[in-house]
Amino acid sequence: MSRSSRTGRWFKYAVAAPVLGAVVRFTPFLDGNGAPPDFMNFAGAGEFRAVGRHQRAMLQQRAGLTGADRVLDIGSGIGRLAVALAEIYPDMTYRGFDPVELGVAWSRKALQGYSGFEVLRVRVANSFYAPTGGIRAEEFEFPYPPGSKDLAVALSVFTHLGAAAARQYFSQAIQCLAPGGRLYLTTFLLRDGPAHTAAAFEFYALGEGTYVASADEPDLAVAFEQSFWAGLAQEHGVQLDQVFPGTWADGSVGDDFQDALLFVKPG
Ligand SMILES: C[S@@+](CC[C@H](N)C(=O)[O-])C[C@H]1O[C@@H](n2cnc3c(N)ncnc32)[C@H](O)[C@@H]1O
Repeated sequence: MSRSSRTGRWFKYAVAAPVLGAVVRFTPFLDGNGAPPDFMNFAGAGEFRAVGRHQRAMLQQRAGLTGADRVLDIGSGIGRLAVALAEIYPDMTYRGFDPVELGVAWSRKALQGYSGFEVLRVRVANSFYAPTGGIRAEEFEFPYPPGSKDLAVALSVFTHLGAAAARQYFSQAIQCLAPGGRLYLTTFLLRDGPAHTAAAFEFYALGEGTYVASADEPDLAVAFEQSFWAGLAQEHGVQLDQVFPGTWADGSVGDDFQDALLFVKPG
């Protein structure tokens, strides 16, 4: 990654995102009812509502999501999933958190009137999304009681965490789950080592079953071997229930770009 694009990234997340967050909070015409303007979307490509509805459908099909689930959305971004959930499950209990002020400000505005939905801004560091720092992700403790969630979700978040942070987030997510709870996360999975044909990213080995696309900015895109996840599941006494291959590695046609994993905590 070049110095200028790193400076641009720093400006975007350290300066523009907090300023835009304040603009969203204090500007009445940005009322949260529609999609945020494109320049405010830092969470990924695609139309805000369409992506959220797709994420919701994937969770229904793959993780058995229902309106009765107490959902934890790790790295909730600009609220794409939250808004899609509120649309059909207005009484749901939902908790989301994210380090980017702008995303939290937009989500809160969009979720006004849905009393079961809460989004927290957390001061956790990430070299890509939170360059001004905060608590190290590998030391961050989720601000929710143990056993209080039925479904923990992390959509395109472990793709921005190094090995130590990923271990901590996995452990925290499992701790938050009630018996029988599920953790659904998306990741770049290296099934047979790093050699993938037609892969959207070229990853370099860092050790511990972890690979990064940029040595300069490690949190830009992180991939893990499947054994990394299988090891974590074993360590925490949870079952790696299903692997849903994405299309990123071979350019195939499928439901999602990233791979997805479903873990189940014993009942
Ligand atoms: C690609 S976006 C996906 C956002 C959201 N899950 C979605 O699909 O719309 C990645 C998100 O992870 C958040 N993030 C990065 N590091 C994080 C951390 N250590 N803890 C929680 N969220 C984090 C970013 O701020 C960003 O909102």
